Amino acid sequence: MKQPSVGRAIEIRKATAVADDILVQHYLALWESYGTPDDQMQPDATARVLAFIQDARKHRGLAVFIATVDGDVAGSIACQRHISPYPDVVMPVHRQYGYIWSVYVEPAHRRLGIARRLVDQALDHLRSIGCTTAVLHSSEAGEMLYEQAGFKLAKEMRRAL
Ligand SMILES: CC(C)(COP(=O)(O)OP(=O)(O)OC[C@H]1O[C@@H](n2cnc3c(N)ncnc32)[C@H](O)[C@@H]1OP(=O)(O)O)[C@@H](O)C(=O)NCCC(=O)NCCS
Repeated sequence: MKQPSVGRAIEIRKATAVADDILVQHYLALWESYGTPDDQMQPDATARVLAFIQDARKHRGLAVFIATVDGDVAGSIACQRHISPYPDVVMPVHRQYGYIWSVYVEPAHRRLGIARRLVDQALDHLRSIGCTTAVLHSSEAGEMLYEQAGFKLAKEMRRAL
């Protein structure tokens, strides 16, 4: 249900590496929200996320944004230049994908427009580092949010192996 946001101070800030633990915590909570059983998770999941973040910050223009409500951490998002899974032959000025991941808002702070504001910040950041298109993979919970933010379904085909 939509919650009233009147009177609550919602702030979004660009995070430094000091806040990496918040992103890790939210990213793991996101996998939990998908119903991923604990025994399917990598035992060193935290270290893996931290290593990914550090590499993306160094090489791919990673930015992390944190949302707070009345000073309490409420949500976060990460984005960076996307690495193509096939050879890139088009000049980045014409085609540079940016990838958005770990869009997470804590249950107590949902339906206040926080995710939408986080997505807008991520889009601004991707534009600022020269991206021409933003890409993400949506959860079911995220579909309406991304449609509202202007995302369209694209064709990715999959089959089980
Ligand atoms: C999906 C998620 C990020 C949405 O966060 P949020 O801050 O509650 O979203 P917002 O308040 O910004 O919602 C923006 C719009 O998205 C849609 N929306 C968001 N949550 C919805 C829900 N539970 N049911 C229906 N529509 C929803 C609405 O259209 C909403 O606009 P409105 O409130 O004006 O109607 C949050 O529910 C979450 O963290 N879920 C678990 C993790 C996850 O699935 N993340 C997405 C990964 S791709």
